[in-house]
Amino acid sequence: MSQQTQVLPEERSPQITLEVADTQLSIGDLNDLCDATEAAITDGGGFGWVNVPERTVLESFWQGVIAMPARDLYLVRLDGVISGSAQLKRPPRNNEAQAFSAHLRSFFIAPWARQYGLAQKLLHFIEEQARQGDIEVINLDIRETQTAAIRMYENAGYVQISTHPYYAKVNGKIIPGRAYYKHLA
Ligand SMILES: CC(C)(COP(=O)(O)OP(=O)(O)OC[C@H]1O[C@@H](n2cnc3c(N)ncnc32)[C@H](O)[C@@H]1OP(=O)(O)O)[C@@H](O)C(=O)NCCC(=O)NCCS
Repeated sequence: MSQQTQVLPEERSPQITLEVADTQLSIGDLNDLCDATEAAITDGGGFGWVNVPERTVLESFWQGVIAMPARDLYLVRLDGVISGSAQLKRPPRNNEAQAFSAHLRSFFIAPWARQYGLAQKLLHFIEEQARQGDIEVINLDIRETQTAAIRMYENAGYVQISTHPYYAKVNGKIIPGRAYYKHLA
């Protein structure tokens, strides 16, 4: 029996890029973002959806997000493919008293892109951008079952404010939640 040894190309580290989304997503990027979202929801979600919606609903959702002036959409790419995202929601203009703060929402990395450090890099990038936009405090809330994300936020200096015993309902089961803040100064 003859055996063949294949010489594999030299290992290279994956390329990670971070960006604030433009006011319009290309068709390719919109597709990648929807693919990543579907995979994350199927894997257990964590940002609202429990069941994967129709593709057209997802597309409209993301197009709506980038059209909203009070929301910044952040994207992370792994080798050019959108593999995760998050949003910073600023208070409405009339809320001058809280204009220095923003709410971090819908933070996720697609299951296929996890454990490469993307989430940590994305969080750091968002905080840098927030500082530059005169945001001093980031608030967030999260299901208690999202243990990986909780660990990441706590390691990054997010301080727990409270727990909410009736935070979310997933497949008929009530799940508690937690609220956190981070002072960026
Ligand atoms: C939480 C999540 C964003 C982490 O993404 P990721 O790119 O794999 O994370 P990273 O590789 O950057 O790791 C960052 C930190 O997250 C934590 N973490 C990531 N995966 C973990 C796991 N499987 N178990 C425990 N902690 C984990 C760790 O603190 C890790 O830091 P460390 O490696 O120094 O310990 C991702 O698992 C996810 O999208 N989960 C579902 C959605 C979600 O929970 N979103 C938050 C809701 S607001």
